[in-house]
Amino acid sequence: MTSHSWLMLDHESPRYRLPDDLRARDPMGGRDCGWVEQMLPFVRRFSQPGDTVFDPFAGFGTTLLAARLEGRRASGCEVDAGRIDLIRERLARHGLAHGTTLLHASCDALEDAALPPFDLCLTNVPYFGCRWTGAQATSQLYDSPSYAQYLDGLRNVFHRVRAGLCEGGACIAMVENLRIGDRVLPLAFDLARILEALFTMEGERVLVYPHDAEDNDADTRTDRRHEHALVFRKQRERIDLPATAALLDAMRAAGHDFTLFGSFARWQQDPQGMPPADADIHVDADPQRLDTLLRWLQGRGFSVTSWGDPVTVPLHLDSYRGRFYFRADRIDARGALVRLDICYEQ
Ligand SMILES: C[S@@+](CC[C@H](N)C(=O)[O-])C[C@H]1O[C@@H](n2cnc3c(N)ncnc32)[C@H](O)[C@@H]1O
Repeated sequence: MTSHSWLMLDHESPRYRLPDDLRARDPMGGRDCGWVEQMLPFVRRFSQPGDTVFDPFAGFGTTLLAARLEGRRASGCEVDAGRIDLIRERLARHGLAHGTTLLHASCDALEDAALPPFDLCLTNVPYFGCRWTGAQATSQLYDSPSYAQYLDGLRNVFHRVRAGLCEGGACIAMVENLRIGDRVLPLAFDLARILEALFTMEGERVLVYPHDAEDNDADTRTDRRHEHALVFRKQRERIDLPATAALLDAMRAAGHDFTLFGSFARWQQDPQGMPPADADIHVDADPQRLDTLLRWLQGRGFSVTSWGDPVTVPLHLDSYRGRFYFRADRIDARGALVRLDICYEQ
């Protein structure tokens, strides 16, 4: 993979293209199928031979085929049974069906034992509003009734991806912003926010495709002229430890009631131990006291989020039930991070 921030993809090799007869068996004619050439550089750069590459939205098995061609093991989830059959047949035609695990499921519904750990997650997300004409399935994200429900579905899937991804492994999602009706949805950027709450961003590549359409500045249709490959890692964040300790002291001095627990509390007892990636505090689930604390933090330059969504005060705590914690982050002009996880549920 070059060190450029873009990747020009000028043609799809007929050798690896989804064969026409398999395309014809798909209810959408395979129009959402990616290119093996699009995946290969990422497989080579972000995994080693023998590693396992996982695709939570396996589709026609393009990522899985790229992984197997490069001597990696492949595993994938796909909710559509017809597409699971297409993947099996496609890989078998290349003689690469062995070394592959296929799960007919949405990965967020899987127990740990059903989804063995993997070294790289590499995927193209399903697009909201694409008018799915295949079999109905409750977790089919192509069929999400609203954009918010669709983003929640993506969040749940990537939450599960995080649990299965090895420490240090990359999670790479390919996505473009989306035009639906007269509206442009910043899907690539919304997904980046979701991933940012789960992983550490490493960068992005822009994938550029050839296009025959005439140039027209007024035409901003989503037409896959380019897409973003968002590159994230599962790794411990480095936080500014003295600034975090100073924040906790300032909170106590300001009268905020909390209990420090977890890795920061352990590190304060044993500074030679593993440095913490955040400070965990427990607070009472009292909306007024929480409002006061969150306002206090926001007034000191912290952004407060819940699983990647911005949190505004006054709080409607009921809408955050089951999310367990708020995250308060402050990044200063040197890039130093102070991170506080405020747990309001056990
Ligand atoms: C963009 S396609 C992936 C295509 C794939 N990258 C390829 O080129 O072969 C997205 C796929 O996600 C599947 N999908 C949608 N929601 C899902 C879910 N919750 N879990 C697993 N698969 C899902 C769709 O059925 C679709 O096949």
